[in-house]
Amino acid sequence: MSTEKIKNSLKTGSDKDGYFGEYGGIAAGENLMNNLEELKKAFEAAIKDKKFLDEFAYYCKHWIGRPSPIYFAERITNKIGGAKIYFKQEHLNHTGSHKPTNTLFQVLLAKRMGKKKIICESGAGQHWSAAAATAAKFGMPIVGVMGKIDCARVNQNLIKAKHYGGKLKIVEGSLREAITAAIKEWSNNPDYYYLIGSTCSSSPFVDIVRYAQSIIGKEMREQFMELEGKLPNEIIACAGAGSNFTGSIFEFLDEPEIKKVVVEAEETAALTNGTKGIQQGMVTKFLQSDDGSKSLGGSSLGAGIMYYGISPQLAHLKDIGAIEASTANDKELLETYKLVAQNEGIGISFEPAAAVTEALKRAKGKPKDYIICATACGRVEKDLDVIERLIGKDFE
Ligand SMILES: Cc1ncc(COP(=O)(O)O)c(C=O)c1O
Repeated sequence: MSTEKIKNSLKTGSDKDGYFGEYGGIAAGENLMNNLEELKKAFEAAIKDKKFLDEFAYYCKHWIGRPSPIYFAERITNKIGGAKIYFKQEHLNHTGSHKPTNTLFQVLLAKRMGKKKIICESGAGQHWSAAAATAAKFGMPIVGVMGKIDCARVNQNLIKAKHYGGKLKIVEGSLREAITAAIKEWSNNPDYYYLIGSTCSSSPFVDIVRYAQSIIGKEMREQFMELEGKLPNEIIACAGAGSNFTGSIFEFLDEPEIKKVVVEAEETAALTNGTKGIQQGMVTKFLQSDDGSKSLGGSSLGAGIMYYGISPQLAHLKDIGAIEASTANDKELLETYKLVAQNEGIGISFEPAAAVTEALKRAKGKPKDYIICATACGRVEKDLDVIERLIGKDFE
């Protein structure tokens, strides 16, 4: 779906069938086809409606607290020796991550469509707490689905979402199973609005989430021009399915001189190690058995980046060489968390620790006027108990 048509641009969104190259599309049941078509029409109309966009901008500023600042991590930069390391501080948004920008956009869209009830899934509970907060703000009932594995480790987000009025269903597994269950719930209740948390599943969800989150890169452009008088040389962000990364780099897709690096959890790196398949409503790269009959995937400390698939748009961008992919493992996430906390006084969650890990590796030995921006997309609260259990003694 072309939302920003520029000739020969990578910023044109998916094609008329929802594809990015050979990935994307619609792989949904018959009973959801009308809903997806209705959603596509509503989205296309909404982004041409100034009143709708003004309302989105108003609440981005006054409710979420956007723009999130960029921050020069000076002590880490001096310690590493090399490029200047910046953070795009998405963790300072209301509810503590990049997620509320997407939930705000989609709840406004749901309201505009006359929807009365919302359903969503979540991995790390960041989307769940953001979605529940947004639903409360606009007076909509909301049901969320999360996996047992994640519920056991991100309790703070569950408590917050409960206080906002969200009703949670818990299924076996993690984000993969939560998405499957949420889509099933939506199939049984097609009059609900399905508020997806990332750039995944059937078209037009990838375009919708990307549209909302691309505010991250737009802000970055203005902020770097103001502070440094130039744009960063590299932008690095982590990905579960990819909304934070896509939002960070979309603005710069037609500027190949800016390197764009996505970082996955080493244990669940679908973009790096996956193969093409059809699951969860989309054609993309998945960690799966050779014949595609079984999904695979390990476990990461970063609940939000523990996903066995990847945004179809990112699968395409990687195939054509427009983005690079890397990975970070659990040990690195812990070390980076500690380094950032002790040198910058900032508590980042495990997911952005993956991006900062990569930034540290790439900064070493680079010229001092080279700029690397890592998106710090989550705050640590949800991970504090796990960190305290694993390395709490290191801080004594
Ligand atoms: C803090 C944080 N960062 C990143 C992610 C990954 O999501 P996405 O790939 O959509 O950015 C999550 C998902 O829950 C998250 O909570």
